[in-house]
Amino acid sequence: MKVLIATEKPFAKRAVDGIKEILAEAEYEVALLEKYTDKAELLAAVADVDALIVRSDKVTAEVLEAARNLKIVVRAGAGFDNVDCEEAKRRGIVVMNTPGQNSNAVAELAVALMIFISRNQFTPGTGAEIQGKTLGIHAYGNVGKLVGRKGKALGMNVIAYDPFITDDSVFENDGVEKVASVEELYSRADFLSLHIPATAQTKGSIGYDLLTSMPKGATLVNTARKEVIDEAGVLKALTEREDLRYVSDIAPDTAAEMSERLGKRFFATPKKMGAETAEANINAGLAAARQIVDYFVNGNTRFQVNR
Ligand code: 3PG
Repeated sequence: MKVLIATEKPFAKRAVDGIKEILAEAEYEVALLEKYTDKAELLAAVADVDALIVRSDKVTAEVLEAARNLKIVVRAGAGFDNVDCEEAKRRGIVVMNTPGQNSNAVAELAVALMIFISRNQFTPGTGAEIQGKTLGIHAYGNVGKLVGRKGKALGMNVIAYDPFITDDSVFENDGVEKVASVEELYSRADFLSLHIPATAQTKGSIGYDLLTSMPKGATLVNTARKEVIDEAGVLKALTEREDLRYVSDIAPDTAAEMSERLGKRFFATPKKMGAETAEANINAGLAAARQIVDYFVNGNTRFQVNR
């Protein structure tokens, strides 16, 4: 059995060592492709592997075509919008993610971004506190829950919207108010933390109408995916409303224009860094390795996302 770890954005060394240890114990061969700059490198590296571990690396139909022996892809992380799941299914290749393993790192960054923008990006001048403000959580999954709990600990009033959670006790147990609609969520949130996945339904869904419904001085915090944002709509909203702010983990396609027109009301990390902690790398990377072994040895498909 040969497993390729293909990470354009590498795991911490301790995570790579841990992954190798788990796979060596199972007597699997391991190949490592890090920081590649050309798709051709990935196409060549997948040619003879049985399993693939990736992060946000694009596993397209072309990659799957080149990977003649591939049986399983594990996305070490939550969002699997980078993998062509349909094509993998057509080819009988199992796709899994490792839900929850890197959530705390992303949640911590969401809180950090709220404080950073409230303190004028750490430049001189009077800022504001997040205590006492209303934090709206859009999608109450693994990351959303952690952001909500951290918000509560920081004295925020936390409200959330998630149409896929029908059990109200999920919100009640965290002391979080469940709101009935996405419109209500945005209209009440001083800080709106986005945790929706990038799907055909959500892409470009957050734009002008939702932004302009937010209270005075509100901030949109995006540690989800840049694709869920309607960038033209957000830019128009922030141009019209000089009190609104937008912070994003990963630069939008129109980052230069946003920076120029919005100044300190806009901030984006140059490269997605929500899950860039040693802890998250270790949790997600080792989980991916264990899931591969468990799949080959026991046929366990618990975390399969392309059934
Ligand atoms: C995820 O979906 O797990 C996060 O966005 C982290 O992505 P990354 O592995 O590319 O940092």
